[in-house]
Amino acid sequence: MAFCRASNYIGTMHDFHYRQGRLFCEGADVESLALRHGTPLYVYSRRTIENHFTRLDRALAPLDHTICYAVKANSNLAILTTLARLKAGFDIVSGGELYRVVRAGGDPARCVFAGVGKTEEEIRYALRVGIHCFNVESASELDRIHRTAVAMRKKAPIALRVNPDVEAHTHAKITTGTYENKFGIAYEEITGMYERATRLPALWLRGVQMHIGSQITTVAPFVKAVRKMLPLARALRDRHGIEFFSIGGGIGIVYRPALESGNHRWWNATGAIRPCAAGRAALPLTIDLYARALIPLLKPLGMRILLEPGRFIVGNAGILVTRVEFLKQTGRKHFVIVDAAMNDLVRPAFYDSYHQIVPVRRNHRAQITNRKSDVVGPICESGDYFAKDRPLESVREGDFLALMSAGAYGFAMASNYNTRPRPAEILVSGKSARMVRRRETPADLVRGETR
Ligand code: LLP
Repeated sequence: MAFCRASNYIGTMHDFHYRQGRLFCEGADVESLALRHGTPLYVYSRRTIENHFTRLDRALAPLDHTICYAVKANSNLAILTTLARLKAGFDIVSGGELYRVVRAGGDPARCVFAGVGKTEEEIRYALRVGIHCFNVESASELDRIHRTAVAMRKKAPIALRVNPDVEAHTHAKITTGTYENKFGIAYEEITGMYERATRLPALWLRGVQMHIGSQITTVAPFVKAVRKMLPLARALRDRHGIEFFSIGGGIGIVYRPALESGNHRWWNATGAIRPCAAGRAALPLTIDLYARALIPLLKPLGMRILLEPGRFIVGNAGILVTRVEFLKQTGRKHFVIVDAAMNDLVRPAFYDSYHQIVPVRRNHRAQITNRKSDVVGPICESGDYFAKDRPLESVREGDFLALMSAGAYGFAMASNYNTRPRPAEILVSGKSARMVRRRETPADLVRGETR
């Protein structure tokens, strides 16, 4: 059984586990994958992705609902195809993401298009393929969509994105639902904006939308925002006949799983072995709780409910495998220098985020030492780190390590900084492992440039 697999807690259920000291993704040995495909390497579990989608879908069964996977979290075609087969909808934020969904066999008519700066070209493309809806974020955008639709002799389906001004208590860079943020239209202006939209004949008013932030780990902000939105949604339904209310994404996952077994010493921030229960207490949000809190509020509305989860679906379904290049002791610090870097996984540098780091092959005799290490990449910036002052088991040069919970906003945010080719991506299903994106080459990186 995977560590914390049995847990009912959000995002902790996944298919990475040890067998005789070797890390497996489902039935595939991670070290063999690293040796065959090289590192850094992203490895995803298809079963975990499917499980997360299905669990959320089932929990919301009492509601007429559509789960629109937020493509920005991980846009690999194979992952989009996996979700398209489950009849997922998609939340997209660019023409590029729409192109990916179409290429992956997803249904454009199940796509919602978000973002504060949609270009005319993107709007034209979306109207041409026939998306479900534009989530509109300003008066100027409303006009642009209308003008484009008139020129194409089409009716543009729209929902207005409401900024409910509710604090999500998450990282400042990923909170979106307060008036400090650039997102959405102020709650107080929404009624007037719908009135204005009704006077634009090429618009089709289909819904209303909100999204308050990402990595939200308690149910309270969701409840607060939905409660605030309910009278508005009801009024818009009665006055304009809108069909859906999208409650956005943002369901948080566990990045610091509690330690499951007394026999195994998982590496964690403190080096202490904590029972699973402690982790549960620390993260009160579960899918059951989310569903139990929201269904009674939303059901009486009698509208279709859309959701836009990204991280919840893929976050714990992926790891980044890296190799220890060098160990280095400076005057004050011990560094574990690995071959992955901030260009491959930028979340620690960007958000100071925590990713559990575990050995791909466990040495049963190894102890967590009292020495704390910084796990760093080779890029010439001090921000290029994956962990700071982390107590680790003793590692040797050449060992493989896994950065856990890297499936969301991992590869999707990777760059070619320092002219570093982006990693290959592997999708595991049972015992089979398929390369779903090959590693880039230096030639890929200069393609399109001229001397
Ligand atoms: N819907 C909208 C309108 C969004 O802006 C987002 C995320 C989502 C849905 C999906 O949110 P999720 O369910 O994944 O939390 N790069 C950051 C996260 C940025 C999220 C941006 N918007 C990170 O690595 O934590």
